[in-house]
Amino acid sequence: MAKSPAKTIVSASVRGAPAISIGISDKDRAAIAQGLSRLLADTYTLYLTTHNFHWNVTGPMFNTLHTMFMTQYTELWNAVDPVAERIRSLGHPAPGSYAQFSKLATVPDAPVTPPKALEMVRILVQGHEAVARTARELFPMADKASDEPTADLLTQRMTVHEQTAWMLRSLLEE
Ligand SMILES: [Fe+2]
Repeated sequence: MAKSPAKTIVSASVRGAPAISIGISDKDRAAIAQGLSRLLADTYTLYLTTHNFHWNVTGPMFNTLHTMFMTQYTELWNAVDPVAERIRSLGHPAPGSYAQFSKLATVPDAPVTPPKALEMVRILVQGHEAVARTARELFPMADKASDEPTADLLTQRMTVHEQTAWMLRSLLEE
């Protein structure tokens, strides 16, 4: 009788993906991913409001604002991807539904009735400042956990939001 081949023993740990081991504790990865989820929700909400205003702006500043809002919503749209992918790199699922975003966001939803042009600008100043605050709140935790990629991402996002808030604010100053 032929000898049956030796059974190959494959343990679960060999078959499955290994545990994440990047030098950041599970607890810190979870907390940073949660903070980044709030940043993602805020960025997405501000993206949608800015695109909405690009569509609905009226008045003598139409051309300037329509074009400016397009530059801004394009930047915001491109920004959501690196934030979501950092959450994934930390081992957590990235939120990506309107239900999750509405729970996580600190930025309010766009008004149902389109506001006047300068009111749109005012809403966007407040939106960019709110996203900058969300990013800044997370920074000490990323720094403490030596999570340089997140700290770098937060620095880039704060730079953009604070610069955009300044540019929009300048339109409102006499
Ligand atoms: Fe357009």
